[in-house]
Amino acid sequence: MDTDVLRSTAPVPARTATLPADEGWWRTAVIYQVYVRSFADGNGDGVGDLAGVRARLGYLKSLGVDALWFNPWYRSPLADGGYDVQDYRDIDPRFGTLEEAEQLIAEALALGIRTIIDIVPNHISDQHEWFQRALAAGPGSPERERFWFHPGRGENGDGIPTNWVSSFQGETWTRTRNPDGTPGEWYLHLFTPEQPDLNWNHPDVRREHEDILRFWFDRGVAGVRIDSAALPVKDAALPDLPPGSAPAIGHPHIDRDELHDIYRDWRAVADEYEGERVLVGEVWLEDAERFARYLRPGEMHTAFNFGFMTQPWSAQAMRDSITRTLAEHAPVGAPATWVLSNHDVTRPATRYGRADSSFAFDRKRFGTPTDAARGRERARAAALLVAALPGSLYIYQGDELGLPEVELPLDAIEDPMHFRSGGVDPGRDGCRVPLPWSGTATPYGFGGTPWLPQPGDWAPLSVDAQEHDPASTLNLYRAAIALRRDVEDLAEGGFSWLELGADVLAFRRGDGVLSITNLGPTPVPLPAHHEVLLASTPLDGALPPDSTAWLALRPLPERAGGAHH
Ligand code: GLC
Repeated sequence: MDTDVLRSTAPVPARTATLPADEGWWRTAVIYQVYVRSFADGNGDGVGDLAGVRARLGYLKSLGVDALWFNPWYRSPLADGGYDVQDYRDIDPRFGTLEEAEQLIAEALALGIRTIIDIVPNHISDQHEWFQRALAAGPGSPERERFWFHPGRGENGDGIPTNWVSSFQGETWTRTRNPDGTPGEWYLHLFTPEQPDLNWNHPDVRREHEDILRFWFDRGVAGVRIDSAALPVKDAALPDLPPGSAPAIGHPHIDRDELHDIYRDWRAVADEYEGERVLVGEVWLEDAERFARYLRPGEMHTAFNFGFMTQPWSAQAMRDSITRTLAEHAPVGAPATWVLSNHDVTRPATRYGRADSSFAFDRKRFGTPTDAARGRERARAAALLVAALPGSLYIYQGDELGLPEVELPLDAIEDPMHFRSGGVDPGRDGCRVPLPWSGTATPYGFGGTPWLPQPGDWAPLSVDAQEHDPASTLNLYRAAIALRRDVEDLAEGGFSWLELGADVLAFRRGDGVLSITNLGPTPVPLPAHHEVLLASTPLDGALPPDSTAWLALRPLPERAGGAHH
């Protein structure tokens, strides 16, 4: 068997990047998600890049974030926005070079900002050397064993090997052609055909990923976000799914117990490094107990809390979700994460302005009526709500500007999710539109002609426009992040609910801070307090609908700044 591991041929220089030793930094960290392609364009080609990020590190510092999570920045055909990795040890030329990535990591660290990168274990690009070699080597070859190649069903082999359903809709198997042109084996892809699934029973696959972790940890990366973390292991017998609902436990390709061995091995690699390198899982699982298993000691540090993200604008639904989240994390001693959005979901400023404000992939439709003003207010209120909860906080780029979801012209859409839905689902590009930095017309200081068109009415949302407006969403985020860091009760205080009515979410952090959100239709009187620390909307003795306020219950001497609003 061919067991060689693909390595870059250049000798790896020893990296000496020293990460700060502050233990447990990830337990309360504010992590900003950078979708490089749409953040800032340094070379004017309309595609965001590392030069653009480096030029805007001051902005990220002024926001007050502790870490950056970069979506995949590796060499890739971008069939799925970079989640189709061709070479993990190189940066896509559209984004920059490996050297620039090293500089970026070091420059951010010098500002006290850590870097988290994306690792995509379930699949690689069909252009990756391993897959190209597997195609060329043909059926029965060792090269094919790193993937899931399989003969088709039936006499001619033209039936798909399993009835598994793609996370992107449509088929999960694609048939290959033999070198002589005859129809050949099929290969498994839980996402697009350009993303063949790896076989995690194969030692090369395991060794290669541990090597990739070391490659980036050596360069000062502080952690990895693990893509589709509950999917990589497959039942090697490739059983069909039973008709009706799929089993939650013993599913052939979701949440298999063998995954935990992999992440324990990864944790051991992370623990070899100083400065606490963290594993953050993208784990979409309904079952709280199964979810928490990924966070047991010796496995991942944290995982995204999608349960809360998918809730509608409803006090009861959100309260239940928060309670459930805190309860499911407690037994394993892991902090919760709070996530309002990411590069896959509808922007909160739009979502919360809809009649159905919950999120589900299969309900995304063009032309959904939206009350933009209400959505904006609620998104501001939600931002303060989650920033007051115990645990770590994720901010998806542009949410701090209150950007809405963009309904793009059909010919601009690139997301495979749109095409695989037969054009029914708008896909995810509406939350990936390049950021507005300055100016009154596109490209709003982004760079060249943006790879996705920006709306004509984004001038008031630009960073420059919001910079000097104390009431802007940008300054609300800045104030919230600063208070979260500086007020000890918010940073580390205990959590307890307060009952202030069915439409109100109110809780104390420590004995000094109260966060109160009004999700009902009428104003709510503010409970007794010493001082308003921050509010998502101007207060007039009462808390208006769709808003959040943070109240100090006593003087807070440890706070550096002044009151806001
Ligand atoms: C994750 C990513 C998403 C990607 C998919 C396949 O869900 O967040 O953007 O398309 O995995 O890698």
